[in-house]
Amino acid sequence: MSERELVRFESVDGIGVITIDNPPVNALSPGVPEGITAAIDRGNADPGVRAMVLIGAGRSFIAGADIRQFGKAPSRPANARRHYDVTDDSPKPVVAAIHGYALGGGLETALACHYRVAVPSAKVGLPEVQIGILPGAGGTQRLPRLIGPKAALDMIVSGRHLPAEEAHRLGIIDEVVPEAQLRDAAIAFARRVADKRPLPRIRDNDEKLAEGTADLFEATRKSIARRARNQRAPYACIEAVEAACTLPFDEGCARERKLFEEQVNSDEARALRYAFFAEREAAKLPHIPREIELRPIKTAAVVGAGTMGGGIAMSFADYGYPVKITDATQEALDRGMARIRSNYETSVKRGSLAAEEMEKRLARIEPVLGYDKIADCDVVIEAVFEQISVKEEVWKEIDAAMKPGALLYTNTSGIDIDIMANVTKRPQDVAGTHFFAPANVMKLFEVVQGTKSAPDVIASAMDLGRKIGKVSGLAGNTDGFVANRSRAPFSTEMVIMLEEGALPEQVDKVMVDFGYPVGPFVVSDISGLDIGYDTRKRRAAQYPNYRKLPIADRIVEAGRLGQKNGKGWYRYEPGDRTPHPDPEVARIIKETAAELGIAQHSFTDDEILKRMLFASVNEACKILDEGKALRASDVDVMWLYGFGFPRYRGGLMFWADTIGVREVYNQIAAWHQRYGERWAPSPLLRRLADAGTPLREAKAERLR
Ligand code: CAA
Repeated sequence: MSERELVRFESVDGIGVITIDNPPVNALSPGVPEGITAAIDRGNADPGVRAMVLIGAGRSFIAGADIRQFGKAPSRPANARRHYDVTDDSPKPVVAAIHGYALGGGLETALACHYRVAVPSAKVGLPEVQIGILPGAGGTQRLPRLIGPKAALDMIVSGRHLPAEEAHRLGIIDEVVPEAQLRDAAIAFARRVADKRPLPRIRDNDEKLAEGTADLFEATRKSIARRARNQRAPYACIEAVEAACTLPFDEGCARERKLFEEQVNSDEARALRYAFFAEREAAKLPHIPREIELRPIKTAAVVGAGTMGGGIAMSFADYGYPVKITDATQEALDRGMARIRSNYETSVKRGSLAAEEMEKRLARIEPVLGYDKIADCDVVIEAVFEQISVKEEVWKEIDAAMKPGALLYTNTSGIDIDIMANVTKRPQDVAGTHFFAPANVMKLFEVVQGTKSAPDVIASAMDLGRKIGKVSGLAGNTDGFVANRSRAPFSTEMVIMLEEGALPEQVDKVMVDFGYPVGPFVVSDISGLDIGYDTRKRRAAQYPNYRKLPIADRIVEAGRLGQKNGKGWYRYEPGDRTPHPDPEVARIIKETAAELGIAQHSFTDDEILKRMLFASVNEACKILDEGKALRASDVDVMWLYGFGFPRYRGGLMFWADTIGVREVYNQIAAWHQRYGERWAPSPLLRRLADAGTPLREAKAERLR
């Protein structure tokens, strides 16, 4: 595409209108900055042009630099004129007209303009930190001058998107204009300011910088210490804003540029860029046409008012969907509704939800008794007790009640989707939509394709996930589906290591240091240990070679159920969730290991980490080899959103690639020799290692 097509210039009664047209989001791909520069030059050279408007075609202003270009050789010489400087230096005023998104380099472009107008639905932000970098085009220097260092730090270090109204209050936007009239309103605005001099250049205004004291920066560093551990980008953001407060503008920009260049090719930035694209890739289904017609969803129903069912109903209500919730008895419904209310009330108490908003959401959830009351809903999600006989009964009722064409989804985490589909006379309408607990909080939405699920039923589920604020990922119908099946060996290995001499607190520390928000043993205590206990018993009966976990069983048999009764892998003080290592647990571990005749040894942190994560890498390869997941990157997305895997490490498979596929294979093969069958290397892993193909590039030919 030529530059002229990417950026257009037209003169409208004395106002030069510069339109960026680089779908889908007007990223600043090669040609766009050059096009803007040329258009500004043209406007300045034309005596008939008094002022200019910079506007985006399509759905957005500018969503930032083209992220795909990072890590590649620069497309322009280092000394080329930058459109930011050319805009800022323009002797004629330039007005940014913002709709959709002005993010990163997009907002930086707008900040280099002399004025900014936006429609109410527009969002602005400097989200670079989320892809492991910092704003690299003057954003860290201009924003503190415009809104003060404190507010600028908040925006830049969090990377959050601000709605136009908030941006207007802060002073980023000069005027909010009616939704459908952006172009005309911006032209009218440009006309009003065309002759005003001096031009308001943000770079010249240092008044607000005095607020940027050493204390402010120190306090900001402290406030992010836990959340930003192992990361450099949030600190680089702070450093750049600090430079704005201590150096002249041009020197501050040079400092920002240097920090940007140090950061852009870092492991952290690579991993976060990978995660950004992996997430978008996960939404694409190569086996289903993109233009397939989705089944409309206006109303939803949830069957089962337990903890999961309640969380699912909240997920719908939170995104504006009216939802009915049903259960077998009035008491179960009342309990479920009380739990939902109490969850919302906790959010109100914490200040993350307005009381008024809580009432609106609650009003969207209607408890009903009897399947006939949900019959006309567009989608139903079954979330009843995980027992095949219970499920079969419920699915007969669902099939009998629901209107033709309704989407029939199950939230099962462990039962074969086909069993439920085959209870109905319409198995093509059935699929899995697996939420993760707590369902209203966790972002992963695992869509499970049954043998007979129709393509539009799958595509509608993927879309539904997005509409209720989740990240959808597709899984084949295999025991545990993709997320839990790939994580199962991790959970097994962590307990086996106890037999060999590790302690829960040591394992947890390794995983928290790696970047997990909490250690896996604490996670087990939060979830409750009895569920795993029951599952292990069931599996041991089902699979003759099942690797039993005697320590985990003894812990439960000693009455330690997790946080719910104040003792699990740790002990807890009443009313407090701080885990304390418990000598009784250490004793159970030691005694059980002695009975099993297992010699204890000490573990290095590296061994703990690799034992847990490599076990899962191997399983993920088996899943891909069996065609139960489409892409290794889908597994990564599931680990990021389902299990709190640190995003700045990309995901399970991306992280393994940082070690190297050959080394991963060799280690797994060595453990196979030492520990036996559970470490048998996946044939796919072996093929990848032989070919030197990165794990993250592994794909299934099709979903089976
Ligand atoms: N570069 C390249 N491609 C981008 C992009 C970018 N900055 N932003 C979005 N895209 C692509 C997506 O990959 C996607 O492509 P496919 O259709 O091929 O998958 C397409 O545009 C649409 O994006 P989404 O599916 O994400 O659409 P959405 O409507 O859900 O979200 C968005 C839109 C909020 C803009 C989101 O895409 C987003 O957050 N983009 C990244 C924004 C960002 O980080 N900007 C800063 C870039 S760094 C920078 O600017 C540095 C600097 O200082 C100069």
